[in-house]
Amino acid sequence: MSATIPNLGVCYYPEHWPESEWAQDAARMTAAGIQRVRIGEFAWSRIEPREGEFNWGWLDTAIETLGSAGLDIILGTPTATPPRWMVAKHPDMLAYDHEGRPRTFGSRRHYCFSHEGYKRECARIADALGHRYGGNSYIQGWQIDNEYGCHDTTVSYSPAARDSFQKWLMNKYKSPAALNTAWGNVFWSMEYGDFDEIGLPNLTVTEPNPAHILDFRCFSSDQVVAFNRAQCETLRAHTDKPLIHNYMGRITDFDHFEVGSDLDIASWDSYPLGFLEDRSDLGDEWRTKFMRQGDPDFQAFHHDLYRAVGKGRWWVMEQQPGPVNWAPYNPAPLTGMARLWTWEAIAHGAETVSYFRWRQAPFAQEQMHAGLLRPDGEDASVMGEVKRVAQEIATIGKTETRAADVAIVFDYTSAWAWDTQPQGQDFDYFRLVFDFYRQLRRLGLSIDILPPNMRDFGNRKLVVIPGLMSWSDNLRQAIDNFSGHVLIGPRSGSKTSDFQIPAALPPDLDGLDVKITAVESRRPGGEIALEKGGQFRIWREFIETNAEVVEASEDGHPALLKSDNLYYLCGWPDDTAMIRILEQMATTAGVDIEHLPTGVRCRTFGNKQLYVNYAADRAVVGDHEINGTDILLVDQNNKRLQ
Ligand code: GAL
Repeated sequence: MSATIPNLGVCYYPEHWPESEWAQDAARMTAAGIQRVRIGEFAWSRIEPREGEFNWGWLDTAIETLGSAGLDIILGTPTATPPRWMVAKHPDMLAYDHEGRPRTFGSRRHYCFSHEGYKRECARIADALGHRYGGNSYIQGWQIDNEYGCHDTTVSYSPAARDSFQKWLMNKYKSPAALNTAWGNVFWSMEYGDFDEIGLPNLTVTEPNPAHILDFRCFSSDQVVAFNRAQCETLRAHTDKPLIHNYMGRITDFDHFEVGSDLDIASWDSYPLGFLEDRSDLGDEWRTKFMRQGDPDFQAFHHDLYRAVGKGRWWVMEQQPGPVNWAPYNPAPLTGMARLWTWEAIAHGAETVSYFRWRQAPFAQEQMHAGLLRPDGEDASVMGEVKRVAQEIATIGKTETRAADVAIVFDYTSAWAWDTQPQGQDFDYFRLVFDFYRQLRRLGLSIDILPPNMRDFGNRKLVVIPGLMSWSDNLRQAIDNFSGHVLIGPRSGSKTSDFQIPAALPPDLDGLDVKITAVESRRPGGEIALEKGGQFRIWREFIETNAEVVEASEDGHPALLKSDNLYYLCGWPDDTAMIRILEQMATTAGVDIEHLPTGVRCRTFGNKQLYVNYAADRAVVGDHEINGTDILLVDQNNKRLQ
């Protein structure tokens, strides 16, 4: 259990505005109820305009001005925006795309994680910042870099990546013979005689060996971990304040749990309307219904995910307050949504919710991106909501997060595995896990997300493990020791860690008498009806078993099986089948459920419950009504607090 007193923050760019405005900006922030301000994460060209020539004056003044106004400062390392001179100094530091082209200067994130020279430059600037500000009492946290993986930047096909990948493989396999066996390189005469013969898995004639791709994805993730670690180690020498990174929505290209293990707090950047337009799998009807509110589950999923990544400590580092500039369509949020999103994050345990950004920039790439202030410096319309929510959260005191009854396991390696080998173009790991999450939430449940190496599920009642590529020893042990119910599949345990089909056939789990003998993917329109209602879509499996068949498909194949407390699902259920099966599982596992109206979701925290209404219309929950885009906060006696 963890407890926190939540607060609000804002992202600010003093280098964008005349120094004469900083003091007034700071005073207006605190007057609005804002307590934290993040600065500096893109300011390298102003901090070090030429190599080795530092210009600290403006940053000293900005920190003094903001800090003395009463704001806690989060200082970013500016390594997501290497300045032009850096690229001139290290022309080979750029990342290369899948087609083998360098991704050039003129925006941001133009670096390859494998470039050792650039990594050293990052440690150097982090060291200079730490040296200067590590003891500054206004600095209450450090953000390292900005949004790893954003703009598709985790995977790079550069010469630097190739050299590092060869070393990584040598370290992992020790001999080319071991690699050849693990990858199955006898197939198509792909055997290697030396590690320096191995290229990157792009630009091949037809598909590369999936084991080659998967190792390259694991390597690419490890490079992010190492890059982040280098700055952590540097900063730790100067400060004991928390080190933080701001992750993104639906980015699965690197293992966030691994990166998070070197940090003190996880944070993420929540853009509900941008994400709905840009990265939702749901159809036009749903997107139109929620286009000004965001998907009712997307934010919560990431709140729960990053609570796990942050080992209990997490923030929203950037919260959308108005239209963004980067999605295919950029509507304005309905009135009330900025407040609702803030409250929702707090109910999931956020320590800080920080809006992006203070004043809308009239220049450069994001001039169409709203802030709390308009470009002319007047309050944008959302400011009233921010002030209101600041006052409201000031009254609730400590918020508490306890383990939820229900949990879902989330595994980044599985995302890479099914990207590599979807075996059906609609098979996407995030989409599969998120489908389970959404239907659990429709049942009124609070959910924890767990990493794939848990050794113990604690007192939980139901754990769901969809699409997990392979079992870790820890997870096998957790399942073995668990007396609650576990819902497994589809596709869980279908590969060894070398990305081969297990000799015993999947899912290859003790205690589960199931053998997957064949699988198929199905096109839209090719769904398979289930006897008890709903359908399998996208994926289904054929099995041999002596376990109890809980339900079958109408074409006569087992669909859900049970061996003691372990259940196996032989396909990807549609919404109707999914919610029915999850309701049945939750009820047998002794979890209380509550069917919620469309767009209403609930999160229990401490002895309170927060209901949020993402729909535009009024909804009824028990004895209470909630207006569209409003919240309902109740105590343990069901008394309305907000
Ligand atoms: C985030 C990023 C910010 C800003 C924002 C715009 O991805 O961290 O710097 O670009 O998006 O929505």
